[in-house]
Amino acid sequence: MNKIITLGEFIIQKQADFPYAKGELSRLLSAIRLATKVLNSQINKAGLVDDILGGMGTENIQGEDQKKLDLYANELFINALKARNEVCGIASEEEDRSIIFENEVGQNGKYVVLIDPIDGSSNIEVNVSIGTIFAIYRRVSKIGTPATTKDFLQEGKQQVVAGYVIFGSSTMLVFTTGNGVNGFTYDPSVGVFYLSHPNIKIPKTGNIYSINEGQYEYFSPEVQSYIKYCKSIDSKTNRPYTGRYIGSMIADFHRNLLKGGIYMYPASSNLPNGKLRLLYECNPMAFLVEQAGGAATNGSTRILDLSPKELHQRTPFFAGSPEMVNQLEVILQGK
Ligand code: AHG
Ligand code: MN
Ligand code: MN
Repeated sequence: MNKIITLGEFIIQKQADFPYAKGELSRLLSAIRLATKVLNSQINKAGLVDDILGGMGTENIQGEDQKKLDLYANELFINALKARNEVCGIASEEEDRSIIFENEVGQNGKYVVLIDPIDGSSNIEVNVSIGTIFAIYRRVSKIGTPATTKDFLQEGKQQVVAGYVIFGSSTMLVFTTGNGVNGFTYDPSVGVFYLSHPNIKIPKTGNIYSINEGQYEYFSPEVQSYIKYCKSIDSKTNRPYTGRYIGSMIADFHRNLLKGGIYMYPASSNLPNGKLRLLYECNPMAFLVEQAGGAATNGSTRILDLSPKELHQRTPFFAGSPEMVNQLEVILQGK
């Protein structure tokens, strides 16, 4: 039998990979691990618990209906991270403004965390995979003062940790600290995450394309050309590709990460900057996919090089196998 490695052991073994003080990584990740376990047990009950399932009748800043589980997960992650005393502020899809921990312990925290507490909320009530996304940065403002906007508006390439949890047929935590990507599968009967997917590498190319093709008429002619490319026949490049779209980015991304493929949420005439949020959806996915050997772009610029202007800004997003993303850029830029 192969040696079994739990998430706890893995973090201890890999402390040296984290270029900062040792206990910080383990405290940050153990906060996320704890929140994930609690959230997992609630998600598994979501079909049973009326109280959690369904709309709250309130909207977040982006005008989207907030589901109860979104708010529950939001509070859970905020409280778990706050309790570990490493974090000076949090930004969340569910919070209009960043949350700054003003007390002395908070002001001494060295990190900010950005989260999408539930990604794919519309899939909760139909029992389809959903996720949680997180990104962690070192603050750039002075330690011992309250966090500032600059701490949150850092370029994606400054991330020190990024990851996601997928609540699928199993629950998995997948993360990077900038030294490759590792995936852990949760055993709910013992409450432990096991290293199940060490050193994940995305295949250089694949045959899956994932896009909400119902929006085709609203896409630019260049994006339409790429979709036609995906559907046209060419045995050398394994085309036509297979279309797969779940509507939870995490689930679409996770499948493509393991099997090879490209995920796309382009700009369209009705969503001129696309739909996905740069800071807590695209940047963490871009860091992960690059660490797995893949690529992520807005069509012309590497996602991790974009300079954020505001917390909830959106960007067109294309990520996946490097050869597929490269071919997409060739077609989008008419090279
Ligand atoms: P969220 O649930 O955090 O608002 O994110 C939903 C996002 C993303 O998960 C998914 O890929 C995309 O919305 C689906 O959008 P469409 O329904 O427009 O395809
Ligand atoms: Mn989301
Ligand atoms: Mn969300």
